[in-house]
Order: sequence, then structure tokens, then C-alpha cells
Amino acid sequence: MKKKVLVTGGTGYIGSHTVVELQEAGYEAVVVDDLSNSREEILGRIAQITGKRPLFEKFNLCRQEKTLGLFDRYPDIVAVIHFAALKSVGESVARPLDYYYNNLVSLIHLLEGMKKHRVPAMVFSSSCTVYGQPDQLPVTEEAQVKRPASPYGNTKKISEEILQDFLVNHHAMGVISLRYFNPIGAHPSGLIGELPQGIPDNLVPFITQTAIGLRKELKVFGRDYNTPDGTAIRDYLHVTDLARAHVVAIERLLAGQQKHPFEVFNLGTGQGVSVLEAIRSFERVSGVKLNYRFVDRRPGDVEKVWADTRLANTELGWEARSTLDDAMLTAWNWEKKYRENPFSDE
Ligand code: UD1
Repeated sequence: MKKKVLVTGGTGYIGSHTVVELQEAGYEAVVVDDLSNSREEILGRIAQITGKRPLFEKFNLCRQEKTLGLFDRYPDIVAVIHFAALKSVGESVARPLDYYYNNLVSLIHLLEGMKKHRVPAMVFSSSCTVYGQPDQLPVTEEAQVKRPASPYGNTKKISEEILQDFLVNHHAMGVISLRYFNPIGAHPSGLIGELPQGIPDNLVPFITQTAIGLRKELKVFGRDYNTPDGTAIRDYLHVTDLARAHVVAIERLLAGQQKHPFEVFNLGTGQGVSVLEAIRSFERVSGVKLNYRFVDRRPGDVEKVWADTRLANTELGWEARSTLDDAMLTAWNWEKKYRENPFSDE
């Protein structure tokens, strides 16, 4: 019997890539997603890649009875990977209550279900946004957690606090919180990838949509940062590397290898890349000249952040394998392939 892992948000960008890695590692994924920012067709794409369509339940985890009922119906779930959340920084500033409600209530319901059914392990989807602008780079897990600049970021910080408080009295449980830097790229098959609704907020989908002609130009936010070329620096990691880290984290939890009930790991490449370097990488691998223009800084953006990944390297035995160019190429292939064959109503 394959071990069942509940993947909330499993049709989303990182979730879908993680379901692929999980199934390829011999687990059975149970996906819960309300499809508010993803598509049911992703399940078929996952089946094309892995040969198995994941089990699927469509609902929002804020529905308490549904969430608790799910654990009743799948009593053999051994672990949870919790991705499901609202994630747009700008939208969270405009609709803070929706963000706090959705992201925190869903986590609480999941923990209630896990407690009742004694599910011992959770991997939580956190973000480097909890560090704000770090005082030292690369940033380690020991760095001070600052008040995030957005309600979205604050939901990640508060979620980590809820998890830590919960674990104080639930000794049989373990949680690994993975703080992602900037995930980019797509599955090498070109069958799944990032699919933003409307105008993309994030750099790489904006680049690929501009290159394919959906957007007129990329606006580069700020050229007066204190960085070598004046543009902001991030740590971009390939989503398949990121997805693999979740499988490794699940294995650590299930093998009882945790050193502490609440562990935190940075997931990045350890390399800082500027916006201009990212654009150059895209141009190099795609052969497309990108139309871009410098504009003012985007409010809330930090100047530079990249990960110290030594803890993930040594403790999880995980490291990013793909290069920036690999990631850009898969993002571009996904964009091209998707536009040739989009989902029905796009
Ligand atoms: C932010 C959050 C991250 C969150 C993510 C989700 C921080 C440090 N990071 O990532 O936690 O998970 O949003 O959306 O708060 N850029 C442009 N033009 C564009 C788009 C982006 O120049 O059209 C630049 C940005 O200014 C930034 C870089 O590209 O310097 C990356 O931006 P983006 O992809 O939006 O990610 P973050 O803002 O780093």
C-alpha cells in the first residue's frame, strides 16, 4: 500500500509540481483545492506525467466540516503538505481580512483534523518574506523574523507562530516549515507550470508573457537600488528542485529524524540574481529580445535577499540542482506550449 499524503493547494503552481514528485517517489497524493487560482485540468496533466491521476476533493479548507470530514474519509493519510493559501502581495494589501481569514482559518481547521486523527507530520509552505530586508546576507534561518511588509507575508509569519504554539502540547507531531525564496520555471515536460490569473505580479511569468506577445513590455521596478546594476536581487530557484525538497521533508518527518518538533529550512540556490541578470538569462535561452523599461520601485519590495542554504544542504541533504538558465528555459517552454493549447476558457 502506498502512503497517502494530503496536499492542500495541490493543483496550484508549487503544489502540482510537488504532487508529481511525490507520486514519482511512490506516495499517493490526495489533493484538496478550491480551484480559486488553479484548474482541474492540472490533474489530468499530472496523470500524463506520472501515470496516475491524484485523488481530488474540491473545497476550501475554511469549511470546517468539510476539512474534518476529509480526514474521516481518508483515515490512512500519514502526512500533510499545506500549500493552499492566497498569495498575492498587492491583493493582500487591498483585502487584508480575506487574507488573514483564508490563510489562518484553513490552517487551524487542518490542525484540528490532524489532531483528531493523529496525523503526525506536516510540511508548511512558508516564505523568505518573513525576513523582510535582512541585516546580513546570505540570510540564515537564525535571522530575525521581521514584521512582513504585507498582510500576505504576515499570514506566513503568524502561521509559523500558530504551528509552534500548537506543537507545545502535541508531542507526537512534527512540522517542517520551508521558507521559499523565489520559485520559477516549470516541469520539463511543459505540461504544468505557473498560470497566473490576469496580469502577473511575479517577474518570470511577466517576462514570458511579454516575450510571447501577451504584454507590451516588462516594467523593471527600480534601477537605483544599492546593487551592482541598480536592480533588486532575489534568489530564484527551479520549482522542481523546490518540489523535491517537500518529498525529502516528508521522508525526514516520517522517519522520525527531526531534531526539533518545529524545524525551519531556507530553500533557495544561495545565489543572488538581479532583475537585469534574470532578463539576460531569459534572452539567452529563448533567443527572444525582451521589451523592457525601467520604472519606479514597487512599494514593499526589498532591495536584496538570498538564502544561506547550508542547513537544508546538511540536514535535509537537499540542494538546488538546476541553473537559472534551466529554469528560464522550462518557463519559456511551458509558456509556448500552454498558449498553443490553453485550457478551455482562456
Ligand atoms: C514576493 C514575496 C514572496 C511571495 C511572492 C508571491 C518578498 C521578499 N517576496 O516575491 O514572499 O511569495 O512575492 O507573489 O516579499 N519585478 C519587476 N517587474 C515585474 C515583476 C517583478 O521588475 O513586472 C521585480 C521585483 O521588483 C523584484 C523581482 O522582480 O525585484 C521579483 O519579483 P516577484 O517575482 O514579484 O517576487 P518577489 O516580490 O521577490
